[in-house]
Amino acid sequence: MNADAVVRYHDGTKHHFHRFAPSLGYLDWASQPHPFRSFDGAPVVPLAHRSPAVPPVTYDQLFQPGPPARPLPISIATIGDMLRHALGLSAWKQFRESRWALRVNPSSGNLHPTEAYMAIGAVSGLAETAGVYHYAPDRHALEMRCAFAAEAWRAACGDPSRTLLVALTSIHWREAWKYGERAFRYCQHDLGHAVAALRLSAALAGWRATLQPDWPQRAIAALIGIDRDDDYVEAEREEPGCVLLVTAGDEADRAGLSGLVDAARRGEWHGRASQLSEDHVEWTFIDEVARATEDPGRNPPALPALPDPPDLPDLPDRPALPAHERALDPRALMLQRRSALAFDGRSAIDLARFVRMLARVMPGAHAPWDALWWDARIHLALFVERVDGIDPGLYLLPRHPTAVERLKAAFGRDFLWESALDATVPLIRLARGDCRRLAGRLSCDQDIAADGFFSLGMLADFDASLETFGPSFYRHLFWESGIVGQVLYLEAEAAGARATGIGCFYDDPVHEVLGLTGHTFQSLYHFTVGLPVEDTRLTTEPGYAWETR
Ligand SMILES: Cc1cc2nc3c(=O)[nH]c(=O)nc-3n(C[C@H](O)[C@H](O)[C@H](O)COP(=O)(O)O)c2cc1C
Repeated sequence: MNADAVVRYHDGTKHHFHRFAPSLGYLDWASQPHPFRSFDGAPVVPLAHRSPAVPPVTYDQLFQPGPPARPLPISIATIGDMLRHALGLSAWKQFRESRWALRVNPSSGNLHPTEAYMAIGAVSGLAETAGVYHYAPDRHALEMRCAFAAEAWRAACGDPSRTLLVALTSIHWREAWKYGERAFRYCQHDLGHAVAALRLSAALAGWRATLQPDWPQRAIAALIGIDRDDDYVEAEREEPGCVLLVTAGDEADRAGLSGLVDAARRGEWHGRASQLSEDHVEWTFIDEVARATEDPGRNPPALPALPDPPDLPDLPDRPALPAHERALDPRALMLQRRSALAFDGRSAIDLARFVRMLARVMPGAHAPWDALWWDARIHLALFVERVDGIDPGLYLLPRHPTAVERLKAAFGRDFLWESALDATVPLIRLARGDCRRLAGRLSCDQDIAADGFFSLGMLADFDASLETFGPSFYRHLFWESGIVGQVLYLEAEAAGARATGIGCFYDDPVHEVLGLTGHTFQSLYHFTVGLPVEDTRLTTEPGYAWETR
């Protein structure tokens, strides 16, 4: 039974106080995977080095409901801008002899298992045919994997200046090299971060981007050619993840499938995938869960419309955080997003900024939540440490109105269940008290979980979701948690602070704190937000040589 295999994997990759999930236990530097995949022999199309001259958008406008009056047409310039601000390089860091790239999208261990592909019609500057392209973030270029009939694109997806598809894959080996069996979870988190990054960067051009529920994984693999054995001789295979339809305008949110896949299959293919490591360790548990959670595709469920976002509180004249002068240019914010390595352990955040952050992670009829075809399945258990105007303690942010009663029934402890805020966000106080030590302990004893304003665990509505949508939804639960995380990363930057995703936490001890038994709810991801302390030993250069700050 696939559902049993999912639970077996999930339980088998939990961290316990006395035992971490199985991994090699050391880093074999000789087999460290290369961070960038390339397709040798594929024609390369460089993307523009600068953003196109377009009307400015503010960061807050990215979250406005409804499409903007005049979305930009899809062109090689606007595609480049979207990819640059979702998946491009954000910086190069150096410490002594080591130099490594950071990206706009975060990744557990900075290992970046996510690869991105685009399927697109004939767009001027790109090709006269339709094509499938791999995005090469190291060069900010597209590698043309396949050229296929432009008419096939039009028949399936319509006007190429108004639609394109982005498909995401995971190279499990990249994460497994360091994290062993737990790596499948991190690949899914990272994919969720990338989905949110893409949805928000699509909003820069006034576009929408929606996950396509009816695409079976195998169709995604066939469209982007990752099932072509001859192109992957000795190269690590890629696991199909999801496909997003990007639309500029009021096109339908669904793309025709079969005609497109057939046309791509018949197309002219180029390039061979590069090998990332010479030696590999087999992690068969990951292969098993990947098979058990293979997505067959489905018709999307009919859901009630998402609510409009609430009015956000004004920011205080004298904020608790040091005033930051950065204009909230969304592109700058996306490029400056980083994971904090340490927090100062002193500063507090003001209530208005805290409420804004929580409001932004609530589902609403806007980016990135409008990319999802399911209703919210992730709820937040917050350890509030330093928020002006909120007592320290344990809190709950249910992200779906019907979840409260079920969470109440599942939490086997005598909590307060008091409303902690006004109507802007439905924050519930569970218990008052200093939870810094507890928060740090639960997140694998990482100080960043104790030294910030708050940290949190993301509780997935586990059993019921798998029952409703089948085992493949295991992946989607992690995607949703990654999307929540990406919003928190950006919100932290917008508040003049910083965040860090935390994949390392002790699973069942978190459940014990809440009195959770069984698998009704499971904590899938932790997060922390605070005022960062920079590591001044590192030097930083821009993501690309042509960019000066
Ligand atoms: C799924 C996920 C899990 C992570 N887990 C941890 C963690 O447990 N501890 C930590 O310090 N950083 C963690 N990080 C942060 C990554 O190390 C960081 O994203 C990566 O080094 C890239 O740096 P950047 O986010 O500054 O671009 C995590 C990030 C992600 C996306």
